[in-house]
Amino acid sequence: MPGLLLVSLASCLLAIKQASPISRCDLAKVLHEEDLDGFEGYSLSDWLCLAFTESAFNITKVDENTDGSFDYGIFQINSHYWCNDYQSHTENICHVDCQELLSPNLLSIINCAKKIVSRAGGMKNWVKWRLHCEGRPLSYWMTGCHLG
Ligand SMILES: *[C@@H]1O[C@H](CO)[C@@H](O)[C@H](O)[C@H]1NC(C)=O
Repeated sequence: MPGLLLVSLASCLLAIKQASPISRCDLAKVLHEEDLDGFEGYSLSDWLCLAFTESAFNITKVDENTDGSFDYGIFQINSHYWCNDYQSHTENICHVDCQELLSPNLLSIINCAKKIVSRAGGMKNWVKWRLHCEGRPLSYWMTGCHLG
């Protein structure tokens, strides 16, 4: 019986762990449904690599920067330029409340990310993508993911 106990304990811990981060393939599916596959020339693997390096797929991640601005959500979108946090100066280019970028349905953050990647520099606007993803073989990010 200890084996069975271990299994149920493990699946319980797994359920808790998955509460905030989205799984890699679930994320791939949402990105695909929202037409990010090939958007501005970037593959789903680019988006997965970006999301992992920025947030480890944590949809609710918020981090403060040294300049007092905050980075929000799975793509760590910055409040100084892109969303309104009602705390610091913002250009609010995405016309969105920063808290909305943490929504579990991901629609607001995907729309904002589309705006960012459509600008000059594309995905280079995310320093971590440039450092950890650009020019590397990335197709393994999609391993085992079925989009249909
Ligand atoms: C996700 O991010 C939130 C906010 O930054 C943090 O409180 C939480 O612990 C993170 N979740 C995981 C699983 O790291």
